[in-house]
Amino acid sequence: MEATQIQVKKQMEEEAQTEVEIWNYIFGFVKMAVVKCAIELGIADAIENHGGPMTLSELSSTLNCAPSNLHRVLRFLVHYQIFKEKPTSQCSIAFEQTPISRRFIKHGHNSMAAFVLLESSSVMLAPWQGLGGRVLANGTSAFDSAHGKDVWAYAAEDAAHSKLINDAMACNARVTVPALIEGCPEVFDGIGSLVDVGGGNGTALGLLVKAFPWIRGINFDLLHVVCDNEKCDGVEQVGGDMFQSIPMADAAFFMQVLHDWDDDECIQILKNCREAIPKEKGKVIIVETIIEEEEERDKLKFVRLMLDMVMMAHTRKGKERTLKEWDYVLRQAGFSRYNVKPIHAVQSVIEAFP
Ligand SMILES: C[S@@+](CC[C@H](N)C(=O)[O-])C[C@H]1O[C@@H](n2cnc3c(N)ncnc32)[C@H](O)[C@@H]1O
Repeated sequence: MEATQIQVKKQMEEEAQTEVEIWNYIFGFVKMAVVKCAIELGIADAIENHGGPMTLSELSSTLNCAPSNLHRVLRFLVHYQIFKEKPTSQCSIAFEQTPISRRFIKHGHNSMAAFVLLESSSVMLAPWQGLGGRVLANGTSAFDSAHGKDVWAYAAEDAAHSKLINDAMACNARVTVPALIEGCPEVFDGIGSLVDVGGGNGTALGLLVKAFPWIRGINFDLLHVVCDNEKCDGVEQVGGDMFQSIPMADAAFFMQVLHDWDDDECIQILKNCREAIPKEKGKVIIVETIIEEEEERDKLKFVRLMLDMVMMAHTRKGKERTLKEWDYVLRQAGFSRYNVKPIHAVQSVIEAFP
């Protein structure tokens, strides 16, 4: 084949691929919307409670759904391999779980149901309409444009949304903290007390204290958050504002908190943190995303880039950071040295010393 013919063939293949791919951008939201619908209906919960595959008629009567509409939803979910079809001995079809559908069981092991419900809520979807406005020079916060206040002020006034945020963060904690415990347990050696700054409902600290029972935990978050938290052995709940001060402890723990703020705000929080930990043997443990500048490190790179866009939509000035950006923030806050430990998670661990 001549060079021009090869080029024309390549162009036609690319065009054909584009014809397919373009629909993902036009209807990209549909997958999220249908999964949200499946979680709200409780399809995965019903199959789990049933103890095995369920037919359409069993599912429709259990969930009180119109069979024809439920069939359409299931057909979509089967196409994306979220549920599987299984022939029954009565020559009909039953629907069974997959590893993905199990993650959508509301209180299941490693459930991500609450995270889906948060991100697909009308409160969190509205700011995406204003993403362009945020990108403009002198742009305005997309969340503030949609709701007239920032996400934390919104949560303080809306208890249901606050619970949705805390439940969603707890989903992530249940997946990330075991990876942290397994990947670098040495980080917690010799720590008598640990303050989890912006610890939400205390799920992360609860898991850490269970794994490292010599640690006394202090779960620190805004007053309206800690007021609603359930009691957990070994964990004290303290309400306050990290921009004012942070409770004293041997070490401070931040998971997915600093990415909500810009560099100056992070520097202020970390300076407050230095006041809270001993100069000699204190440390800060940061569990956050690190955006790779070189070629992708692993399959989760797209999640890190998505999270960065989520920060752009949902926070005033938050962002995911490259290692160079973390270096700047830590040094400006007065941390003399730090090390980075990758774990099997979207986030890495940064251990910083005053
Ligand atoms: C993205 S969530 C992370 C929660 C938790 N660390 C986790 O990963 O599961 C950020 C947390 O920071 C808390 N927060 C926001 N502003 C705060 C402030 N000024 N002082 C203390 N906590 C704050 C929020 O209430 C929220 O729980």
